[in-house]
Amino acid sequence: MLSGKNILLGITGGIAAYKTTFLVRLLIKAGAQVKVVMTQSAGSFVSPLTLSTLSKNPVLMDFINQEDGSLSWNNHVELGLWADVMIIAPATANTLSKMAHGTCDNLLMATYLSAKCPVYFAPAMDLDMYKHPSTKASFDNLQSFGNIMIPAESGELASGLHGEGRMAEPEAIIQFLIKDLTKDLPLNGKQVLITAGPTHEAIDPVRFLGNRSSGTMGFELAKQAANLGAQVILVSGPTNLSVLENSNIDLVNVTSAQEMYDACHEHYDQVDVAICAAAVADYRPKNIATEKIKKKDGDLNIELERNPDILFSLGEKKKNQFLVGFALETENELENAKGKLKRKNLDAIILNSLKDEGAGFGGSTNKITFIDKNLEIKTFGLKTKPEVASDIWEEIITRIHA
Ligand code: C5P
Repeated sequence: MLSGKNILLGITGGIAAYKTTFLVRLLIKAGAQVKVVMTQSAGSFVSPLTLSTLSKNPVLMDFINQEDGSLSWNNHVELGLWADVMIIAPATANTLSKMAHGTCDNLLMATYLSAKCPVYFAPAMDLDMYKHPSTKASFDNLQSFGNIMIPAESGELASGLHGEGRMAEPEAIIQFLIKDLTKDLPLNGKQVLITAGPTHEAIDPVRFLGNRSSGTMGFELAKQAANLGAQVILVSGPTNLSVLENSNIDLVNVTSAQEMYDACHEHYDQVDVAICAAAVADYRPKNIATEKIKKKDGDLNIELERNPDILFSLGEKKKNQFLVGFALETENELENAKGKLKRKNLDAIILNSLKDEGAGFGGSTNKITFIDKNLEIKTFGLKTKPEVASDIWEEIITRIHA
């Protein structure tokens, strides 16, 4: 969820500032870009050099930089607009009060006032300061502006006292952010199973039967589902594609149709939506040679047997899942696709016609017709696979939320 996001971390002068080194590390590990703005007093609690090394960006403390005898201006407006999310942690009583009243006397405050993104603040102070009506008024004011409070925890405080006011731990801040940023997404709380890529059916230890599927469509569907808030199980045959670390996608690598079948059935009961986008081999060699098959004079016959139809088997077992299949057709397209929709007990089928140039697998584009179980049909133009994935999700989301 945080991957690729621009996160602006504002650090103010409390002892909890030392914990921001861990927070920056976790944000970077989650794939975010991080820039740090800190107040002068924060610099007494945590070293700007440490934060600049961890965030891989210069740490900004003042409007003006003085380096090698030359002066440069830190543009608070640009910084504020750069951010997808701003976190002020630790947020001291002083900074919270300035935020609540628009006091603009340092770079952090000017950046806060320029930011148009969601702003989160994690208060940190002693228990009596935390409870003071003035601090409470700051919290209320800031929340009325739409800023989001990451409540302090209870525990031992730097003063030696025990009570509420400890800044939330970095892991808790990350969990809070992810939960909050995903709460309004249309697939939030949904589990999605997607199959992708080809299958390889072994002939002998070095040879297999396969097909030209690249896996692009399935991976794109998975990526977009994750961005829409879903937890995704992506069961993929051999491809050159990968998923980002720490994304909401759990990649399960398989080779054969039987392995794909087993992996799908292992997870199917717990999912809300399943999309079979894999190009599964319909047949596999009946016997896999244990040694490499030697060349001989004359022809070689390999006996094939049917692979299980994964989609069909999921249709048979379906309870509340919204089940979607693909149909790649060359003739009688619409009729064949409607037949599959019914026979496999699907909620929708996505038809590609090989007669359409740029459709089908292997390429970077596709042209689809979406057909639901009520035989409502929607035909789309030739589009890139990311655009097609987005159309497919839009159709599915309107139906699962109806
Ligand atoms: O019947 P046909 O193979 O044309 O159906 C295609 C759809 O069925 C695709 O969604 C594909 O992923 C799925 N399929 C499957 N298992 C198979 C063959 C196809 O899940 N063995």
